[in-house]
Amino acid sequence: MPSNKIRFIHSEKVIEIYNPDPNETLLNFVRTKLKKTGTKEGCSEGGCGACTVVLGELKDNDINYIAVNSCITFLPTLDGKQLLLVEDLVSKDNSLHPVQEAMVKCHGSQCGFCTPGFVMSLFSMFKNYTQFKEDIIKDSIAGNLCRCTGYKPIIKAAKSLGTKNKIDHFVKNKKKTVALLKKIGNQSIAIYKKGKRYFAPRYVSELKKILKKNANSKLLSGGTDLSLIVTKDRKDIESIVYMNSIKELNYIKNNNKYIEVGATTSLRNFETYIKKYYPDFNKILKRYGSIQIRNVATIAGNIATASPIGDNLPLLLALDSQIVLQGVKKSKILPINDFFINYRKTKLKEGQFIHSIRIPIFDKNIFKAYKISKRFDDDISSVCAAFNLIIENKKIKKIKIAYGGMAAIPKRAIYCERVLLNSSITKNVIDKAKNALEKDFLPISDMRASSKYRKIIAKNLLEKCFLEISEKKSVGIYN
Ligand SMILES: Cc1cc2nc3c(=O)[nH]c(=O)nc-3n(C[C@H](O)[C@H](O)[C@H](O)COP(=O)(O)OP(=O)(O)OC[C@H]3O[C@@H](n4cnc5c(N)ncnc54)[C@H](O)[C@@H]3O)c2cc1C
Ligand code: FES
Ligand code: FES
Repeated sequence: MPSNKIRFIHSEKVIEIYNPDPNETLLNFVRTKLKKTGTKEGCSEGGCGACTVVLGELKDNDINYIAVNSCITFLPTLDGKQLLLVEDLVSKDNSLHPVQEAMVKCHGSQCGFCTPGFVMSLFSMFKNYTQFKEDIIKDSIAGNLCRCTGYKPIIKAAKSLGTKNKIDHFVKNKKKTVALLKKIGNQSIAIYKKGKRYFAPRYVSELKKILKKNANSKLLSGGTDLSLIVTKDRKDIESIVYMNSIKELNYIKNNNKYIEVGATTSLRNFETYIKKYYPDFNKILKRYGSIQIRNVATIAGNIATASPIGDNLPLLLALDSQIVLQGVKKSKILPINDFFINYRKTKLKEGQFIHSIRIPIFDKNIFKAYKISKRFDDDISSVCAAFNLIIENKKIKKIKIAYGGMAAIPKRAIYCERVLLNSSITKNVIDKAKNALEKDFLPISDMRASSKYRKIIAKNLLEKCFLEISEKKSVGIYN
């Protein structure tokens, strides 16, 4: 029987809440019910990091600590996890955590509004790494904004953690916490509260039964897109089915022909795995939102949004990926190229869900991808491009090109591909291919970029790709 109470660990105790509001954010709960006001609200859309908290999740006999944005996390998804707030970092004898001490010593705070968020992001880094190199530090705090201190003292504080004792009070309490997490970690949830419903099944079989009866429910994975209906549009979501408790769907498999990524696999785990096969895929994911976003967001969620500027989508299109769709009775495999119908419209039917994504492994191909956005970190693309090709005897033998940000859906550049296929790479051919992009796309102007800028960028990225192939090195300010 599913339970109507969620259980989580906070301050070494199991907290139980009966029938929580499915649309309440974790941030609201922390500040107004737990009365812990260290965690701040800035943007309410996952963009500033002021609300960062850390969640502890059971992984084998260990705890995996992940930083998340509490402003876009729904409270019921806390079930089965440990909640760590900035207040919890101080030990019982009132001594500061090494991360807090470092921030004080290096003058990492001025007005202090962003500080709890930075401390929690750095705490998560402290727990996950043994060495704190510049790239790890910058990746760890890319999702946190500071308006007054500036980042140098914060980076200095992070670097100084390398010399600190890693045995904090969480390590000392680990055995007890692991035992508690095991105790609370395996219930399914069904909540009915004031006309709102929330389900968190643990198995695909359970999910199918729920969808049969509640086909019009919204599927919730990382919630980094869906939750904004509540926090930004100020609307309620009546019925939610939370996918990420289903461990069966949290996997990455490989049969040497394709990589299969289960729907509830986080982008963070995927970005590490894909690096070996497609380094440029990893490079794009490193600039995808922030660690807080990638710790929970999924490829399945990104595909289902069908956003024209979803960063995975042009890459998956160029790689000829397939989507495994699962209905209550049948499953279906669909090329991703056939999945997007119109602006934010897909072939996904009511009661269906994305089970997994299959990404072919092309050993001999050249795969390149580029993201252009106004800011390097934590920004949505203006244009994203992906190129997958084989060159033999100086001729392009196979080619797939896809762009995001150039049409109402992420889309292949068919006319451009036709010009390039079976051609040698000459200036004349590249110029023709660039012109063909005008036939492929008629981009709009919006707050991210004008139509003219998008067209120029799309052409320049094509040129950059072939320049890099011929010169065998990356070209540009950043690659
Ligand atoms: C601060 C911030 C930065 C961001 N940066 C980027 C970025 O750089 N690049 C980018 O592309 N996106 C970005 N996004 C958008 C968002 O993070 C992505 O679209 C993300 O991949 C969504 O995944 P999710 O698991 O969080 O989906 P959710 O929000 O849980 O769901 C999104 C949609 O997918 C549906 N859905 C979820 N799982 C499934 C499933 N298994 N089957 C069928 N439907 C499903 C949901 O019903 C919903 O309609 C950003 C968002 C924020 C808030
Ligand atoms: S309040 Fe800005 S990320 Fe949550
Ligand atoms: S210290 Fe003021 S915003 Fe960072």
